[in-house]
Amino acid sequence: MTTPQPFTAIVLAAGAGKRMNSDTAKVLHPVAGKPLLAWVIDAIKQTSATTIIVVVGHDQDAVCTFLNDRYDDPNIKTVYQKEQRGTGHAVRMALSCLEQQEDQEIVSVLSGDVPFIASSQIDQLVSQCRDVTSMSLVTMKADAKTCYGRLVRNNVNDVERIVEYVDATDTERQITEMNAGCYAIQLGVLKKTIQDLSKENVQGEEYITDIVQRVAQQSKLSTIEASLTEMQGINDHIELAQGEMIAQQKINRFWMEQGVTLLSPHSIWIDADVGPIAPDVSLASGVVIRGKTSIGARTHIDVGSVIESSELGEDVHVFPYSVVIHARLDKRAQVGPFSHVRSQTHLHEDTCIGNFVEVKKTSLGTGSKAKHLAYLGDADIGSRTNIGAGTITCNYNGTTKEKTIIGDDVFIGSGTQFIAPVTIASEAYVASGTTVTEDVPKNSLAIGRIKQQNKLNVAARLKQKHRFVKK
Ligand code: UD1
Ligand code: CA
Repeated sequence: MTTPQPFTAIVLAAGAGKRMNSDTAKVLHPVAGKPLLAWVIDAIKQTSATTIIVVVGHDQDAVCTFLNDRYDDPNIKTVYQKEQRGTGHAVRMALSCLEQQEDQEIVSVLSGDVPFIASSQIDQLVSQCRDVTSMSLVTMKADAKTCYGRLVRNNVNDVERIVEYVDATDTERQITEMNAGCYAIQLGVLKKTIQDLSKENVQGEEYITDIVQRVAQQSKLSTIEASLTEMQGINDHIELAQGEMIAQQKINRFWMEQGVTLLSPHSIWIDADVGPIAPDVSLASGVVIRGKTSIGARTHIDVGSVIESSELGEDVHVFPYSVVIHARLDKRAQVGPFSHVRSQTHLHEDTCIGNFVEVKKTSLGTGSKAKHLAYLGDADIGSRTNIGAGTITCNYNGTTKEKTIIGDDVFIGSGTQFIAPVTIASEAYVASGTTVTEDVPKNSLAIGRIKQQNKLNVAARLKQKHRFVKK
């Protein structure tokens, strides 16, 4: 194997993506939660490319903002293609960044809408171009019904040219060897062949594919064959959905190889940016893991739960149909079934959030529990505290959000309401049904109930009055 050598990558990402019918730039549409463009750039970043030039145009502000936010990398440069006059024109725009470079250097041109190219394939393209020919390109076999550019070979099987589907004759449309839109070429050859590209085609655009014929007239081209699943182009929502399926299989396979149990992989969706997921984690059917989520060893996430951008420690148990978003769950925390753990929540070790409990911006200390029907918002709760069923932190007065602070070893009886801001000191005891409006000192009992009256022998009469009496 040859040692990888530096090269420049150009990523074409300026097109309007008309077939998407969308206000969002095509390359920003996500597959497994990650925009198409990021799939390509992440692959390039694992190669020996020294500079990545992204050609932007349509919706360029959003694309540039995305690149800055995700990478903030001075080696990723953008070039503006004001009018999208075709892939050939886009590459020509990028050449303005390469004036200082030597002609024998290698440039790899990749499409921002061909997301699943592997870094090894880019390296292979580049080394083949450097060592064997002046241009190499990726091909794939696909059904003649697909609309990719076709490779036309001569009678000794050398690549002669590429013809776009829309410009092809009926005979050319029968060709099943397709152009994947990923190339490596010597810079000097690229500079010579990219000038004066014709616009005499059905789309009236300058095609990068037209340089193939020019290169072929001077020297041989080499090809690397890949599968359609690796080289799927995403041009419309149907292909986007196909891409999602490809990504799901790829990602799920990866995690299974890492020792994660996926009980029914076809129903489990894990975003591309999720990780790490430790060995012996198990995910039941219908589980969706999104964003930058990490999961510790032996954690089990049960049926239908959605976890987004959260940090789950070891031996956590999420029971069915729970939603955990932007939260941190420490070792052995238990959540659900039917819990909603919202942003900025921190459930410490051995905590328990039960069914129909919503928690937001709350810290629940080690060993504390809220097992049934509660809302805990803007609360700071100590360790070993028990929150009874039906407890509500009344954190919002219509204008501001206020805090409820509860100490260690507190017992909160069922049906308690905390009118925040309010502080319950450690070891306090709040009796069921209390509306807590004042701070409760350490080791005290707070009880605030209307005194009960029993009116004897009136129940039957009352029921009759309300026609509830049994016939
Ligand atoms: C292109 C190839 C086709 C190949 C297919 C593989 C050409 C002419 N055709 O077709 O042979 O089979 O990819 O997926 O190259 N772009 C720009 N500026 C432009 C036009 C496009 O940056 O002016 C970008 C797009 O944003 C996109 C990429 O180039 O990321 C490819 O353009 P697209 O219009 O999708 O080309 P295809 O018709 O798919
Ligand atoms: Ca395309």
